[in-house]
Amino acid sequence: MPSTILVGAQWGDEGKGKIIDVLASEADLVVRFQGGNNAGHTVKVGDAKYVLHLIPSGILHPDKVCVIGNGLVVDPLALLVELDGLEQSGIKVAGRLFISDRCHVVLPYHRVLDEGREAGRASDRIGTTKRGIGPAYSAKTSRTGIRMGDLVSPGFEELLAIRIEDANRAILEVGGKPVDGAVVLADYRRAAERLKPYITDTLGILHEAVKADRKILFEGAQGTMLDIDYGTYPFVTSSNTTAGGACTGAGLGPGQVQHVIGVIKAYTTRVGDGPFPTELKDSVGETLGRVGVEFGATTGRPRRCGWFDAVVARYACRLNGFTTLAVTKLDVLDSLKTIKICVAYECDGKLYDTVPASVHILERCRPVYEEMGGWQCATSTLTRYEDLPDAAYRYVARLCELTGAPLGILSVGPRRDSTMRVGL
Ligand code: GDP
Ligand code: IMO
Ligand code: MG
Repeated sequence: MPSTILVGAQWGDEGKGKIIDVLASEADLVVRFQGGNNAGHTVKVGDAKYVLHLIPSGILHPDKVCVIGNGLVVDPLALLVELDGLEQSGIKVAGRLFISDRCHVVLPYHRVLDEGREAGRASDRIGTTKRGIGPAYSAKTSRTGIRMGDLVSPGFEELLAIRIEDANRAILEVGGKPVDGAVVLADYRRAAERLKPYITDTLGILHEAVKADRKILFEGAQGTMLDIDYGTYPFVTSSNTTAGGACTGAGLGPGQVQHVIGVIKAYTTRVGDGPFPTELKDSVGETLGRVGVEFGATTGRPRRCGWFDAVVARYACRLNGFTTLAVTKLDVLDSLKTIKICVAYECDGKLYDTVPASVHILERCRPVYEEMGGWQCATSTLTRYEDLPDAAYRYVARLCELTGAPLGILSVGPRRDSTMRVGL
């Protein structure tokens, strides 16, 4: 497998963690390049379940090197909880996890601001994960952030004091409770002590790996429709979740990556607010949520569910340049008699074959569906693509045709062995 970027094609939670875990056995390095602990990537290994938020999903393979690239915003306290959880499960992390000294630090005041701003919103509430992600990225772009390199440098105390003074003023404006500088300093000093061995200039590691022709797997977080530029703005996250983000968020050029895998769930989910044209608020939506166990891996919130939206998937394919698709959660549709696919939108008598930039148009768009027969038998026990029931085979083929890229992986269950490799 050549170096590959893997990203979600929908609104996140497509099953990226599972596919990364499957592919990681063939890679040398697994690299996260954007987002923070708003992500929740689930990996099932045997009977054990792991939910990774900041650490790349490759960590479950004992011989893989994992990198937290410069494009992330890292909450050091959350990272320590994750590290401790892995160590308690017997997974050795020391010596093979590297955190970029250019990553921005999520501070307690970012979380308070995230909560305060959300509480102050009415119809424009985003439904964020309240992990402080937006305020941390805002600080980065306004050049008032603190980076992981600063956290472990002698000037940290002075820098933090200046930032807290400004942040507490902003917190009062949104009606929140100011943070206690002494407590933050003590907590973050302790975290810095423990994280110091992991923090480094990760560019050297990556560039050495490229030079030695090692295989790098870039693990996207969130999904294309949550991208700050291309998603359903303003109901998006604060980073570039699309494949281009891997270059800026890890520090290498586009020519150093050969493949882009798009992960598409066989239906659509969204957690948080914002337009969702194919959302089902009926018994079918309820079935998808129940059978697919659609609850947020980070916040536990129920995910909104709906039919597969090929307008979204095609848009994602163009934006990311998918060379291959990984289709997940086909098994969740096993019991359905008929299945719909959205092939276009209709709004005010006009047909759209791509996602409009305006969220005001998108929220008035009505899906145009084509209907296919279901297969009504279990696919979750299958291990060979050739054994798929005809109707399931036709459905998957149609998803790929409408999206615009060939099938590489088909997933029919959460575990490693519920995975069919089809030409990848
Ligand atoms: P991610 O954020 O893209 O990594 O996805 P999440 O982990 O948030 O959500 C995907 C959920 O679906 C997790 O609970 C996975 O264990 C589960 N999952 C992944 N692939 C499959 C599949 O093919 N079938 C079923 N039934 N569950 C799956
Ligand atoms: P993974 O990597 C699904 C959503 C939130 C909210 C919006 C902004 O597991 O697929 P933020 O806290 O980022 O400012 O929230 O983005 N969101 C996700 N939805 N999966 C995720 O990550 C998400 N990360 C953020 O629900 O709508
Ligand atoms: Mg998730």
